[in-house]
Amino acid sequence: MTDTTTAADIFIALVGALDRVGVDWSRAVSLATDGAPSMIGKKAGVVTKFREKVQSANRGRDFWTFHCILHQEALCCKSLKMDNVMKVVIQTVNFIRSRSLNHRQFDSLLREKDHIYGLPYHTEVRWLSRVALLRRFFDLREEIEQFMEEKGKPVLEFHSAEWMQDLAFMVDVTEHLNNLNKQLQGRNKVVTQYYDSIRSFKLKLSLWETQLAGGDAAHFPCLKNVCATQHVADMKRFKDKITGLLREFEQRFQIFGELEKDFNVFCSPFTVNPSDLPVSIQLEIIDLQCDSDMKGKFAAAGLDTFYQNLLPGYPNLTALAAKLLCMFGTTYVCEQVFSVMSIN
Ligand SMILES: *[C@@H]1O[C@H](CO)[C@@H](O)[C@H](O)[C@H]1NC(C)=O
Repeated sequence: MTDTTTAADIFIALVGALDRVGVDWSRAVSLATDGAPSMIGKKAGVVTKFREKVQSANRGRDFWTFHCILHQEALCCKSLKMDNVMKVVIQTVNFIRSRSLNHRQFDSLLREKDHIYGLPYHTEVRWLSRVALLRRFFDLREEIEQFMEEKGKPVLEFHSAEWMQDLAFMVDVTEHLNNLNKQLQGRNKVVTQYYDSIRSFKLKLSLWETQLAGGDAAHFPCLKNVCATQHVADMKRFKDKITGLLREFEQRFQIFGELEKDFNVFCSPFTVNPSDLPVSIQLEIIDLQCDSDMKGKFAAAGLDTFYQNLLPGYPNLTALAAKLLCMFGTTYVCEQVFSVMSIN
């Protein structure tokens, strides 16, 4: 797009591109966006217009709209509001890394102390690139403190017990989020796998919330370490951060709750209870559960390949599976494109 990019412009370009490849609008299942205002604006946003177009073609059937799952996760991280930590870390690292004399002197200080790795570059590109930076900053905190003092630029925050705890907590929590992010990356993911990862992370958050409320930082090794040397036992501040993060996750991923029944059928078609399901697939599920041949195939094949075998005997179940297999089908490709753009 070379001119303005209003919601109407984006919509026209999008419809044009899809029509050029001959998309059958009646079969559109879901649309995932980055949640920008021009996308999700209630009245004239791209999502609303897109939904209207799809539902006029499919006679008003369900059409799902999401925020991109990876983007959502990054937004959840922002709710931690730990800019007080990041500001100091980035300023200090920039001071050391962006002047070559400082950088060389700092590296030789590290060599004297038998450290193999120096400080990584900080790239603004991704929130999660902070993980490596924070980790190294924390590990090298004594050397950094010494170096900055020798340079006449002492970092006063190193003397604040509270700030050191915040730093340690931030290291731990970004590492947890990074692990989640790794689970969400990758080609050929099915939406139910994304949902599993999110669900599991929410349960971990609940566990941490309870533990921190009782002053236990079992899964926050850096925080635990700092608090032990400072003889601090009150973790309420951090418990509140985790509560905030949990609330953010619950709110942002609410829409998956509505799809949970479909997810269950899709992942465990042989063990769901047919009477709990929508009428339109009850009979097919009963047939399937008594189909020994299919049962063998289910055990042997992956979720995505299993459903290719169901036609023509199970049209409604196949349609349900096709719907779920489409969701977030291009998320990984989009992420890769964004990465390439950011690097450029
Ligand atoms: C499949 O779904 C259609 C439309 O909802 C319904 O009319 C039909 O009875 C369903 N088939 C079975 C076997 O339940």
